[in-house]
Order: sequence, then structure tokens, then C-alpha cells
Amino acid sequence: MSDHNAVNMTDMNYDKDRPKAANPVKIEDISLRDGHQSLFATRGRTEDMIPVAELMDEVGFWAVETWGGATFDTMHRFLNEDPWERIRTLKRYFKKTPFSMLLRAQNLVGYRNYADDLAKAFVERAAANGMDVFRTFDALNDYRNFETVVPAIKEAGMHFQGCICYTMTEPRMGGDVYNIDYYINKAKDLDAMGADTICIKDMAGLLAPYDAYSIIKAIKEKVEIPIHLHSHFTSGMSAMTHLKAIEAGVDIIDTCMSPYAYRTAHPAIEPLVMTLIGTDRDTGFDIHHLAKINEIFEKEVMPKYRHLLNDTKMSIIDINVLLHQTPGGMLSNLVNQLREMDALDKIDEVYAELPKVRKDLGQIPLVTPTSQIVGIQTVNNVLFDDDKERYKMITGQVKDLCYGLYGKTAVPINPEVQKKALKGYARGEEPITCRPAEVLEPELAKAQEEVKGLAVDLDDEILYAIYPVTGKRFLKWKYGKEEPPAEVKPKTLEQAKADLELIAKAKAGELVEKPSKDTPEKGEGARTFNVFVDDEYFEVEVDEPGGAPVVTYAAPVAAAAPQAAPAPAAPKPAAAPAAAPAEPAPTPEVAQGTPLLAPMPGMIVSYEKKEGDSVSEGETVLILEAMKMENALASPADGVVKGIKYQSGDSVGKGDVLCVIG
Ligand code: CO
Repeated sequence: MSDHNAVNMTDMNYDKDRPKAANPVKIEDISLRDGHQSLFATRGRTEDMIPVAELMDEVGFWAVETWGGATFDTMHRFLNEDPWERIRTLKRYFKKTPFSMLLRAQNLVGYRNYADDLAKAFVERAAANGMDVFRTFDALNDYRNFETVVPAIKEAGMHFQGCICYTMTEPRMGGDVYNIDYYINKAKDLDAMGADTICIKDMAGLLAPYDAYSIIKAIKEKVEIPIHLHSHFTSGMSAMTHLKAIEAGVDIIDTCMSPYAYRTAHPAIEPLVMTLIGTDRDTGFDIHHLAKINEIFEKEVMPKYRHLLNDTKMSIIDINVLLHQTPGGMLSNLVNQLREMDALDKIDEVYAELPKVRKDLGQIPLVTPTSQIVGIQTVNNVLFDDDKERYKMITGQVKDLCYGLYGKTAVPINPEVQKKALKGYARGEEPITCRPAEVLEPELAKAQEEVKGLAVDLDDEILYAIYPVTGKRFLKWKYGKEEPPAEVKPKTLEQAKADLELIAKAKAGELVEKPSKDTPEKGEGARTFNVFVDDEYFEVEVDEPGGAPVVTYAAPVAAAAPQAAPAPAAPKPAAAPAAAPAEPAPTPEVAQGTPLLAPMPGMIVSYEKKEGDSVSEGETVLILEAMKMENALASPADGVVKGIKYQSGDSVGKGDVLCVIG
């Protein structure tokens, strides 16, 4: 930037005298995808995007990110929303700003590599539904995983933005693996693949300002296509990183509207607008217009999400990121999952184990899905390993990674871990070296067959193909075949405000705790009275404590119900003299044997064995999905499978008996 102060700022009337910049920085707003994904676990609902959509369309953003990443999963799983419908709905309000999505290359919007036929169909449908810019990344930066989706993006006439996932092994850029040459070479590869733009994707907030300057300067010297920077705030560096990147000539920057900014999200747009006013990189944005959007967010939207914000710490930055090279989303996932397992006290052990697991698994970048793969394996190691055995519970996804299904790792995988992971692995014990999807059978037709009669169109079928269990459950909700549970329903603004008021009262000490008093057991002599107060009528029951019952019943009193059945609070007079059991009812049959307990809360994917099958110790009985990773649960003993109480799609808690081996 040759002249930062081209305009005399002191006397300038921003609105009137603001000159147009020679080379304005272009901005992509990512509030509506990565913003709420980073801050509110991707729980943003479409109805909460509509109030700002038309105003946001007027800002002049290069693009708005509205889809992809975790949205597809979260929407159908937790929000009872059709992900495809979001694009179409928002498109009615955003009439001129292009839509951008985050595409996990061959992983699409899921956590494994999908077959080529499904990948191609997904991209075609995303484009047809209204997606314009396909920000495409591969967690391993293995661009062989772009070979199917990129031609599909191009054929649809859409924008292919190729990503380089930024990662490091040293405190700053350098070392043997992720040094400046690595990034330059990746940029050249993307250029050769026909990328329309290149995005440096700093998902963990690791990119230091001066490293950003060096990388962008160097890449701009080698390739002509525009360079885009995506940098999370998590560690606190990214606002500075943005500025140095702008000085190095970066073309496009990702920001959030301020209510969605900072913490594990991204720097806000408003300070950047002010920073650049009057320079040759001025965004040209109207800060008053941005303020209007913020006001709507603050008043109408944020109250509904505030409870999801992790504000247990004073600091809004996490220096752990600088110490552990861990993405923000991964951090919050780890904390949430440890909390669910009552193991939050193990977080420091998890931090210590993480770099070891990452190194064992080929020093891979940490980004979805590799961040989850490394993160959950780390949690498993901390929770289940002992002195005798490491990698006791290896997730299905780690096995896939060891097989080569995700692609080529930056350095070779620890051969011992690889061997252990691939022992008995269904695809084979020898890892592959070809493009991963080459070993995958086409899968769309099979999925279509499986979901016949429920799915109505290709979009439904793709949803099911990517997420068979939760996808099927969603389609049942969508087509009224099953009642969606209360927890997937949206919170109203009124409810949200009432909740917040309650919290504010509690914080101010204005909530008085009711003295707890045990309700006495209702005696047999309780009598009902009709009480009339003016026009109001009450029915009250009166029971004289310790007094002799006024009315007695001749009928025998029912014996206390067995514990398993919900017993009424007090014994009631039996309606008829018959059937009052003298003995407790027989308890439901309990299968005898060694129980297989859920080691963690999760969802049953499938039972590999059925009632009556014999198994030997160590053999897989069922697949439990926890933290989006599939865990094969092994039989704790030799015997016969009994007492299966759950089915595919059921949620289970930690310690629940999944079956009994006897
Ligand atoms: Co991001």
C-alpha cells in the first residue's frame, strides 16, 4: 500500500468526501455460516437470517457465506430444517450478492469420503438450488480429492475457490513440512486446476500477521488469480493478520457482522471499514448501514442464541490455540463432549495427548473432518487407554485414515498405529495409495433404493445418502410420518427474553429460592371439596394430618407398585376388589450375563449382531456414533447376544446397557 493517508482524515465528511479506493478490499461476510458455526454450534435458524437478509444484500459484499460446513448436518439433525430449503429461501432475499458455501471436497458436507456419483450429484444440486461460490478444501490438502467436484462446479458454471488449509507444527510458520514453499506449491497446484480464486484457510487462527504478509506476497508473485484470506480470531491475532494481508495485497477478506465476530469466529467488519477509510484499499462500505443490521441482530436474533455462547471465561481469546494448534470449533467440541461424559477434568490430558495423536496420524492439518478425527481419537485415548495398551478404542474414521481413505498424509502414519487400526479392517489390512474415491463403489443408487417411499426428490435422497440415520429421521419429520421432538423446535423471541430476564434476576440476587418443604403423603382420608370464591371455582382436597379418616373405603388398597413402573405418589383406593396384586408384579425379564455398556453418550448406528447370535470377546457387536465418529463396540465376553433394547437411530446415555452377552 503506497499511501495509507491519501485523504486528510481530520476534516473529512465521510459520507460526502470519501474518495473511491483504487483497489478496494473485497469482503465476504460469513456471519450466516461460519459465524454461528463458530459461536453457536451452527444452531442459527433460517428464520433468524431473514430479518437482515435484504439489508445485507445492500452492503456490497463480494459474497455471503450461507451454507456448507456443518450447516447441512446441524439443520436436519438438530433444527428440523431442510438444508436445501435454506438456500432457496435466502435466495429470495439476497437478490444480488452471490452465495458462497464451504465444500469439504470429496467429504461434501459430511465426515467421510463419498463416492464420485454422490459427490457429483451433490455439487449439481447445490448449484441448482442457488449456490454460486464453492469454497473447496481438503483436510489433508490432497488435491486428488478435488478431481470429482471441481469439474462438476465448472460444468455448473460456478466459481471454484480452492483452499489451502493453513497449519503448522512449529510456533510460527516454518519447519520441514508446513513452510513457505509448501504454501507456494499448493497455490500453484490450485492455479493449475483452474481455481478462480485461492483461499488461505486459517481455521485455527494460527496465521501470524507477518507470516500472512510473507505468504501472500510470495503467492501473489507466482499466481495471478485473486487471493482470499479466511482467518479465525480464536488466538487473537487475526485482526492484525488481516491488516498485514491487506498490505501484502490480499484481494478478499472474510469478516463477520460484529455480533457474530471475535472469540472463535472472525474479526468484525466494522473496525476494518473504519481502518481503511481514505486509503487505497477502502472497502467503500457504509458503516451506518452496517450498524442498522447489527441492531436487528442484537434485538431480534441474539437473545435466542445467547445461551449457546460459551462465556464461562473472562478472556475472549484462547491462547491454548497458540500452544496446541487447535481449531476453535474443535476446542468447543472437545469441551462439550468431555462435559457430556463427565470428564471435563481431563481437558489438560487431552491437550497433552493431542500432538502425539496428530503426529501418529501423519501430522495432518486440523480442520473438519480431520480435527474431529484427531480430537475424538485423543479423547478416546485419554478415557479408555491404560498403561498396558494404547489406542484401545480406535474410531472407524481413524481406521479409514490409516487405510488411506482420506488421502495422503503430510508425513507417513506411525506404522504401529496403522497396523493396529487395520487389523481386521473390512476393506483390507494393506493401505492404499491411489485417489481415495477410486476404491469407493457408487452409492447413490443404493441409497435411493433404501429410502424409497420416504424420499420425494433427489435432494431428499442425497440428504439420506450423506446422513443415513439422522437423514431418515429428518425425512420422517419432514413428511409428517413422525412427530419431531420438542427440542428441535425453535425458541420464540418471547421465550428467549423471559429466559434472559430470569438469568439477569438470578445474577442480581433477586431470585428468592423457595424454602423446600416435603409434600406430606396424601392420606386415604383426603376428601375433595368444591370451593367457590365469587365467580371462581376451585377444587381442593382436604386431609387432616394425623386425624382419623372421615371416610373409609372398604376396598383393599393396592400394594405398592414395583419400582420399574411409575408409581402414583400415594396409594389410591382400588377401584374394584379384583386384581389387586398381593405380590409385586414380575419385573421385566432381565437377561443374565455380561452387559455391554455405552462407554459414552451417543446414537446407535447399527447392531452388527442380532439377538441370539453368538459372539466371541472382542468381536464387534454394534456401532455407536459419538461426537460424529463411529465407534465399533466390542463384545466384553464370549457368549450369546441377548437383551437388545435399542435400534438404529436411538440415543443412549453413558453406561446404558446396550445388550447382554450370556
Ligand atoms: Co472457518
